[in-house]
Amino acid sequence: MDIAEIKGFDDPRLPDWLDIWQAAFPAEELVPFSRVLCELGRSGSPHHFVAGSIDDRVCAMAWYVDMAGGTDHGAIWLWYLAVHWEMRGRGHGAALLRDLVDRFRRRGTVRALVLEVEDPDALKGPRSDLAWRRIGFYQRLGCGLLTGVSYSIRAAAWSPRTRMCWMVLPFAPLVAEEAFELIRVSTEAEISRVGPLGLEFGEPSVPNQPTRP
Ligand SMILES: CC(C)(COP(=O)(O)OP(=O)(O)OC[C@H]1O[C@@H](n2cnc3c(N)ncnc32)[C@H](O)[C@@H]1OP(=O)(O)O)[C@@H](O)C(=O)NCCC(=O)NCCS
Repeated sequence: MDIAEIKGFDDPRLPDWLDIWQAAFPAEELVPFSRVLCELGRSGSPHHFVAGSIDDRVCAMAWYVDMAGGTDHGAIWLWYLAVHWEMRGRGHGAALLRDLVDRFRRRGTVRALVLEVEDPDALKGPRSDLAWRRIGFYQRLGCGLLTGVSYSIRAAAWSPRTRMCWMVLPFAPLVAEEAFELIRVSTEAEISRVGPLGLEFGEPSVPNQPTRP
């Protein structure tokens, strides 16, 4: 997979990137489109728009916010990761995430990658099953599920609240209390403790396994 950052509105990958993003998430989890307009190409913006392409066709997108700055040992906040709806389950999502994680790790100053996923306990039926599979996907790639917290988002001022869970991929040893503080401080999330904090990691998969065509 060819992985490249989209830096401006004249990038030919942008329309496909936007379609994958908009198609992959429920409306209540999409931030307003105006955020793309404001952040893409803005000098000094911490927002990064990444496209993964195969044979010049965009098949995966990522949008992350670099809260780590240059040297302050903060977090990278993964806002969105998605694969084209016809190309899921072929390893592309894992390949893109592994590539990003390798880059962040090599910087040496990033403390952790943090991200939100839908809370399976707030959903029913197949949506809940999918939310658990998504957590498993991130756990296999090294993320831990932060337990003992309550959190919800309002992605846009006109959206209903959605209950979410936090996941953390540490680049250096990090206990659950530190992960909680890192999320609270670097993302300014309104996250509350509702029980003993824990970080639940799953079985890691073989790193850098080849992507199936
Ligand atoms: C989650 C997602 C990025 C994974 O990328 P992918 O290329 O499909 O996944 P891979 O082939 O690398 O790994 C397969 C795993 O992805 C997850 N997955 C597959 N299809 C999925 C889907 N439609 N929705 C959510 N997770 C899915 C599952 O955990 C699957 O493993 P499993 O079948 O053993 O449960 C991709 O499926 C997707 O775009 N889903 C919709 C958007 C989303 O949920 N993004 C993550 C939240 S930020």
